Amino acid sequence: MEGPVTAEHRRLDVLLEAALAALASEAEPDAARGTLGALRAALETHFDQESRLYFPAIEALRPDLKPDIQRLLDAHGSFRRRLDHIETRLSERGLAEAHADLQAFSRDFSAHEAAEEAMLVELTHDAAVMP
Ligand SMILES: [Fe+2]
Ligand SMILES: [Fe+2]
Repeated sequence: MEGPVTAEHRRLDVLLEAALAALASEAEPDAARGTLGALRAALETHFDQESRLYFPAIEALRPDLKPDIQRLLDAHGSFRRRLDHIETRLSERGLAEAHADLQAFSRDFSAHEAAEEAMLVELTHDAAVMP
């Protein structure tokens, strides 16, 4: 079963792939800036929903998960800073560096999404045994 968080993750994956493809081609720095901007906007919305809606609800159900949730929230700050850095690189025409940094970002972000989805699967199992 796919919940809203997982559905948003798959949309973010598509935007991340588009940004990677744009940064891989030397031809269109403006397009690359545009795809990064779209990724940034979608990420901000997603981080905001996780911190204000989803995570507080999870923590209310499972207070024992508070340290895990805090780690995931801290990671959002780090992803924001990394994306800032990538945008700066791109504006300085460091396209190859921006692409390499976004590849590393993409790997770490996939692991972040997987950790969140694993937490949600655990909650779904809890809910299944509740009356
Ligand atoms: Fe997250
Ligand atoms: Fe997420």
